[in-house]
Amino acid sequence: MNPAAIFFALPLSIFFFFFTLTSSSASFAAGTKGGEELPRSDIDLLEFPLNLEYLEAEFFLFGAFGYGLDKEAPYLAAGGPSPIGARKADLTPLVRDIVAQFGYQEVGHISGCRRLRARRPPAALDSPACTRANFFAQRRPAAAGAIKKTVKGFPRPLLDLSPNNFAKIIDNAVGRKLQPPFDPYANDINYLIASYVIPYVGLTGYVGANPNLKSPEAKRLVAGLLGVESAQDAVIRALLYEHKRLKVPSYNISVAEFTDKISQLRDKLGGAGLKDKGLVVPVKYGAEGKIRGNVIAGNEYSLSYSRTPEEILRIVYGTGSASKPGGFHPKGAGGAIAASFLKGGSEEKVVY
Ligand SMILES: [Fe+2]
Repeated sequence: MNPAAIFFALPLSIFFFFFTLTSSSASFAAGTKGGEELPRSDIDLLEFPLNLEYLEAEFFLFGAFGYGLDKEAPYLAAGGPSPIGARKADLTPLVRDIVAQFGYQEVGHISGCRRLRARRPPAALDSPACTRANFFAQRRPAAAGAIKKTVKGFPRPLLDLSPNNFAKIIDNAVGRKLQPPFDPYANDINYLIASYVIPYVGLTGYVGANPNLKSPEAKRLVAGLLGVESAQDAVIRALLYEHKRLKVPSYNISVAEFTDKISQLRDKLGGAGLKDKGLVVPVKYGAEGKIRGNVIAGNEYSLSYSRTPEEILRIVYGTGSASKPGGFHPKGAGGAIAASFLKGGSEEKVVY
């Protein structure tokens, strides 16, 4: 090619390169920023888990660091109220390290703009910087697809993470008022038992949502969230399993008994039969009906149980009703699905 041809061809190819780049960026932003290309039912099903992700993020961040999204990623709270009663837990270095990792993972789950976290001042999710970060994140499959990048989401709902709320849950589970009241932030074992309460609910929700999703993007996101959520639950269960026979300080109740009682409570509140099992079970409920140890919960085929949004709301509200807020969500959960129940809709009205 002669020098004149290069002179004309080079700028032209650069133009086409940037034209392709900017048009891809534009279609990505238009397609995901407000979730316009996703079916309405997918958007609702993707928004609903934000309730649990906010809950997990605040519990783990506070547990590890003594602060939550308001300091770590205030733009993700989107003006929602600060959680009630969350605090730093008295943890040993290993458990604190693991909980810190979980906390950051939860930020990632909520966030669509990981690059903005910590290194940049709070900014609107659709700021130019964020749009660029989203574009490049989209080029890396592992980083693509956190909830707020896929759907618009809603501000952080009011969360009650106070020792008093956890004490009520544990009292409900064991069937009596414990003295002293159960304090989730007091030590490793208490914090892990309190943690046992949370990711498993999200896990079953993702399993339940998956077959009802229509778009590949939504399915990819839920599969990614389910993978990490399951791993978190497995780590918590494994750490507790090592101490399954330990009597929890102040109570004549073993770690295994606590998990069994919490699982039973969730089943009772969920109102949909057996979908939850503690760390030690009757042999008939163990894997292949052959073993009592139950470090990972599963059904008769060792597959994860699934839950509907209604069941999850009944559990996280602690009331057994998706239309009666309480528990972790004293003013109710966010998103269209939760709102449909709070507006007095019958629990059977919203079926996905
Ligand atoms: Fe999560």
